[in-house]
Amino acid sequence: MDILIVGTGYVGLVTGACFAEMGNRVVCLDLNGAKIAALKEGEIPIFEPGLKDLVERGVAAERLSFTTSYAEGVAGANICFLALPTPSKEDGSCDLSYLEAATKSIAREMTEYKLIVNKSTAPVGTTQAVRGWIEEVLRERNLSIPFDVASNPEFLKEGAAIADFMKPDRVVLGCDSEQAERLLRNLYSAFTLRGSERILSMDPASAELSKYASNAMLALRISFMNEMAALCERLGASIHEVRKAVGLDPRIGSQFLYAGAGFGGSCFPKDIAALSQMARVCEAPTLLIQAVEMVNQKQKRVLGEKLELYFANLGGLAGKRIAVWGLSFKPDTDDIREASSLTLLALLLERQASISVYDPVASSKVHALYGEDLDYANSPYEAAEEADAVVLVTEWRELRCIDLEKLARVMRGRAFFDGRNQYDEEEMAHAGLDYFGIGCGRPLLRNALLSEPT
Ligand SMILES: NC(=O)c1ccc[n+]([C@@H]2O[C@H](COP(=O)([O-])OP(=O)(O)OC[C@H]3O[C@@H](n4cnc5c(N)ncnc54)[C@H](O)[C@@H]3O)[C@@H](O)[C@H]2O)c1
Repeated sequence: MDILIVGTGYVGLVTGACFAEMGNRVVCLDLNGAKIAALKEGEIPIFEPGLKDLVERGVAAERLSFTTSYAEGVAGANICFLALPTPSKEDGSCDLSYLEAATKSIAREMTEYKLIVNKSTAPVGTTQAVRGWIEEVLRERNLSIPFDVASNPEFLKEGAAIADFMKPDRVVLGCDSEQAERLLRNLYSAFTLRGSERILSMDPASAELSKYASNAMLALRISFMNEMAALCERLGASIHEVRKAVGLDPRIGSQFLYAGAGFGGSCFPKDIAALSQMARVCEAPTLLIQAVEMVNQKQKRVLGEKLELYFANLGGLAGKRIAVWGLSFKPDTDDIREASSLTLLALLLERQASISVYDPVASSKVHALYGEDLDYANSPYEAAEEADAVVLVTEWRELRCIDLEKLARVMRGRAFFDGRNQYDEEEMAHAGLDYFGIGCGRPLLRNALLSEPT
C-alpha cells in the first residue's frame, strides 16, 4: 500500500519504518525541517533500539522516504496516518491543535479518495472532529472528494517499540465504514499472523476510549503499588514480599506491580489528565483516575523528600554532592518528558546541592534544560566520585550490575537511594552502603533516627 505518516516522532517514525519493512511504500512527513534533513542524511533523531537498522533497510529498498511537503506526501498515498503531539492544555484537556493543522493540510492537497487514520492518543470524538475539519476545507475548496476517517490508537512502548509494533498484542480499529475497515485489516494482517483475532474492530468512540482506559489501568497499578510501598515503610513490611504475594494471584497477575519514583513520559501523565477532563465534561467524574494522578505527583517528590530527611541532621542538602543515575523517564529511551529525574533535579538545585548526573543516552536533552548547572559524567562511577549520596532514578540495564565495592570507594558518603528497587539491601550493606529503596531498605521514613549515618 502507499502510506503517508504525518508526524515523524517516536510513534510516526517507528510506524513508518515498520510498514515499510512489510513491503509498503511509506512517506514520513514532518514540519520540523531539521529532523527531516537529518533523516535524509541517515541520522535517526531519537534513540529507539533497532530503529536505525530498520530505517536504513527501508530507505535502501526505496520503500521509505522523508519529506516536509504535504503536496508531495498526500499525492502518492491512499492511507494517511496522523501521529501528532496531543499535549495537555492548562486545564488538563487534550490540545488538538496539531491534529487540526495537520488534517487541514492533508485536506488542502487531496484530489481523490483518502483514508485518514488517527494514531495519536486523542479524546472520544476526535475521529468526528477530523471528519469535520476535512469537510470544512473541502467546502472552502468547493470540492466533493470521498474520504473515510478511522481511529487506530497506538499501544507501542518506547524502548520496545519495534517489537511491539511488529508483534502487537492487539490492533484496535475504530471504523464506521466497511472500506476503511477492509483497508486497515489488510494492512495489519501482515503483523498479526499469530491470529487475526488480535485485530479488534469497533466503533471510533470505543477505540479512542480503549487507549485511555489501557494507560489509566497501567498507571493505576503503579500508583497502587506506590501507596502500598509507603505503607510498607511505615509498618515495617517489604514491598518485594507484598508484590510477590499479590502478583501470584492469577486474577491480578505479576506485571506492572513495581513501586518506584513515579511514572513519567509523554503518555501516562497527559493521558490521565485528559481522561479526567473528558470525564468531568461528560459529568461522570472518575475519582479513581484523579487519585492516580495525585498519588503520582506525590510519588515523583519521594526521592527528594528522602534525601532531605537523610541530610536533615547533616546540615541539609546545600553543598552536598548528589549523583543522579538515569535521567530518561524509563530505560532504553532518550525521552525525558515528565521524567521523575526532572522533579528531583529541580528540588536539588533549589536546595543548592552540587549535582552530577549520568545517563547512557539522555544527558544531552537534560543539558538543553539545565546547561552547566549540572556536571555530566561519562560513567556511573565518575558521577559518584566524592558523592555524599547516589540516587538511582532510571533502571538502565547497565546500572543493574554495579561493582558496589568500587562504588563505595569512589563515594564520599554512604547513602544509596534506589528509586526503582533494583538492589539488594544486604549486598549494599556488605559494601558498606546505606540502602534506601521505595517500600524496602532502611526505614528512613518510619523513624528518621534509625537512619542517621553512623
Ligand atoms: N511516544 C509513545 O510512546 C507513544 C505511544 C503510544 C501513543 N502515543 C501517542 O502518539 C502521538 C505522537 O506521540 P510521539 O511521542 O510520537 O510525539 P513526538 O512529539 O515524538 O512526534 C510528533 C511529531 O509531529 C510533528 N508535527 C507537529 N505538528 C505537525 C504538523 N502539523 N505536520 C507535520 N508534523 C507535525 C512534530 O514535529 C514531531 O516530530 C501522541 O498522541 C502520543 O500520545 C505515543
